[in-house]
Parts: sequence; structure tokens; C-alpha cells
Amino acid sequence: MNRIVYLNGDWMPENEAKVSIFDRGYVFGDAIYEVTAVVGGKLVDYAGHAARLQRSIGEVGIVCPLNADDLLAVHREIVKRNALNEGLIYLQISRGAADRDFHYPENPKPTLSLFTQSKKVLDNPNYATGISVITVPDIRWGRRDIKTVQLLAPSMAKMEAQKHDADDAWLYEDGFITESTSSSAHIVNAQGTLITRQLSTRILHGITRRSILDLAREAGISVEERPFTVEEAKAAKEAFITSATQFAIPVVRIDGQPVGDGKPGPVGKKLHQLYLEHRVATAI
Ligand code: PDD
Repeated sequence: MNRIVYLNGDWMPENEAKVSIFDRGYVFGDAIYEVTAVVGGKLVDYAGHAARLQRSIGEVGIVCPLNADDLLAVHREIVKRNALNEGLIYLQISRGAADRDFHYPENPKPTLSLFTQSKKVLDNPNYATGISVITVPDIRWGRRDIKTVQLLAPSMAKMEAQKHDADDAWLYEDGFITESTSSSAHIVNAQGTLITRQLSTRILHGITRRSILDLAREAGISVEERPFTVEEAKAAKEAFITSATQFAIPVVRIDGQPVGDGKPGPVGKKLHQLYLEHRVATAI
């Protein structure tokens, strides 16, 4: 691969992009990231991702070196420079390099990098087949609403899923599902109500989740934002996940048990379709 990447104001081939070993993103996981889907060369749900980036960096006191207009311009430029039609943009801002000290440095110079990944977003076979998940304890830290690069716990959970021949893992805490390793978790009960955990510090405030809930309410689907148990998930009529590059993907097995009739359900399918029509089609 020979992508053009962005690093601290400069454009360069990916193998020329170098960051200090003292960077706090590397040493402390002191960095925030965002993932925005690209379809047809356009940015999907960009406003939400830009707003969440500001919120995350605000929570940890990192200041983005670019203003909102310049940040959007860089997103558009990286799509152009890589002739990216479909895939994603990964953005990361760390607090910057400083000699190792738990305290933040006084005048940090944040490290801002962006790269693209080409990926089939629209033609993902999982939309039709659904995925299987296992449930594992949620061992992550207490501020999951901040999108930090501290992703070892979800990586471990995904490896555990792989060991059990499952596609992914749903995380639980005190008997309740928090979310999926890298997506939001939703179920649909026998009455057709969409149930998803309410926003708090226990989960990432998914941008796709927000859009899907708005679209569900507009379509007259009843929505309950509350925690649901592992048992409730297994007894649900449908289950699905949402994330920037997966939109809405059905979950058809939990811990080896079929969800509903073991096939992708109508509510998840409809919401996926609505997301395509109202968010992907209006990408900027
Ligand atoms: N993951 N929950 C977690 C823990 C996530 O990591 C993500 C996103 C989501 C969904 O958020 P959104 O709808 O804004 O993508 C929920 C990204 C895509 C990733 O880490 O690759």
C-alpha cells in the first residue's frame, strides 16, 4: 500500500510518516481517535463525528490544532489525494511528545494524524447473513464515552470471540450488556420495541446509534433507551450492532444460541435501509 497520509500539517507517503517514541499516545494511550465512513468519496455522518471528537478531546484537555473548517478540508483532501471511493478515514490526536511523566506537559504540541483505509462498506456480506457474538465481561475503564486509543480490552475480547469461532463479542457488566467491542448493541423485543442502552460514561456515544434512533422514531418504531440483560438479549426477537463503517448489522447468534429465528430481522434491515437513504445518501 502506498497511501498519502496527513501528519501535523504535512502530506507524505505512509512510510515516511514518523512519530516520536516519547509521544504520549504511544507511552500513555493519551490520544483520541475518530473513524468516519467514506462512500462515493463523501463523508458519512461527518457532523456527528466532528462534534464527538471535540467532546472527547475537551474531556481530556487536548486542543485540536485545526479549526472546524480546516479539519473538514483535511478530511476532504485525504479522500482526494488517495482517490478513496469507499472505506474510512481514521483520525488521531495525541497530547504530543514529552519526557515520560504522568502529569500532562505544560505546553504540549498535539500530534494529529489521518490515514485512509479502503474497504467495501456497502457490499458487506454480513448485512445479509448476520454475525455471531459471544458475551464477555466488560473490563474497560470507566470513561468509555471518551473515544481514546486504549483499545487493548476490545482487542482481547475480539480475540476471545475468534477463539470461539464467533465474529465479535458483546460486553457485559453487572449482568447488563454495555455495548459491542467496537460498535453499539441493540435488541428488538417481541413487541417490536427497539431497546438500546442509554448514554452515560459506560458506553461510547455512537454516532450511528444516534442516527439510527432518530430514524427509528421518525419511522414510528418505539424506542426504549435503557440497559438490557444478557438473558434479555438472548430472548430477543432481533439483535443488531451499529457503527460508522458497518451501519446496522444483524446479530443472529449470541453465545451459540440463535436470536429469534436465527435470521436477520425486519427492524434491523429496515433501519439499515433508512440509514442508507437518509445518512449515506446525504453524505458530504
Ligand atoms: N468503533 N462503541 C464502541 C466501543 C466503538 O468503538 C464504536 C466505534 C461504536 C460505534 O460508534 P460510531 O457509530 O460512532 O462508529 C460504539 C469504531 C468504528 C472503531 O473503533 O473502528
